[in-house]
Amino acid sequence: MDGNGRWARARGLPRTVGHNSGAEAVRQAVKGAVACGVEYLTLFGFSSENWKRPTAEIDDLMGLLKLYLKREIEELHQNGVRMQVIGDRSRLGADVVALIEAAEARTAGNARLTLTIALSYGARAEIVLAAKRLAEAVQRGELKAGDVDEARFERFLFTADMPDPDLLIRTSGEKRISNFLLWQCAYAEFVFLEKHWPDFGQDDMKSAIAEFHGRNRRYGATE
Ligand code: IPE
Ligand code: MG
Repeated sequence: MDGNGRWARARGLPRTVGHNSGAEAVRQAVKGAVACGVEYLTLFGFSSENWKRPTAEIDDLMGLLKLYLKREIEELHQNGVRMQVIGDRSRLGADVVALIEAAEARTAGNARLTLTIALSYGARAEIVLAAKRLAEAVQRGELKAGDVDEARFERFLFTADMPDPDLLIRTSGEKRISNFLLWQCAYAEFVFLEKHWPDFGQDDMKSAIAEFHGRNRRYGATE
């Protein structure tokens, strides 16, 4: 979800207005995903690197997140959405963590769409944490180093119980992955949109999925 700040600047508005409009786009993205029968939607809400932003903007974003968690959870729950958060929770405020835990508990039994929000998330940090946990499991004698393979390694990632993404969409014209799900996106199809995140709507989700269906996925093999 990129381009909230540029969307606001283009309108002579403060960045915070862009973030507010971005939250509305989240609603549209979730609706679009449900309408298309998507079972897993993962949104990059706040990266490990976003902590480098000015405190006032971080506070704005956290405030918006709290508002989202308070206002939207009931509707998400009614629509069969299971919500979960991945990332480094130790850096989040206690109030934010409490709301996340409540939202996760409330929606835990739902199965129509798993909405994962990556918060304080960085893929390299996730992989290092997985390596650390795996080393600890080896130390405890639960696993032999020689038995480590991709499937066993993956179990230590935040996404252990999720399928790899088929499609990655990035808005606002940047063509980078920016430390998002590096391991999991090994074979993801990428769609880059010029529009900024606040302008993302249900139709964008539909057309990105249509483009995805037109791709020829070979996973390194021949036809
Ligand atoms: C995306 O918009 C929202 C977050 C990363 C939290 P940006 O804030 O990155 O907007 P730009 O890239 O400055 O336009
Ligand atoms: Mg940005």
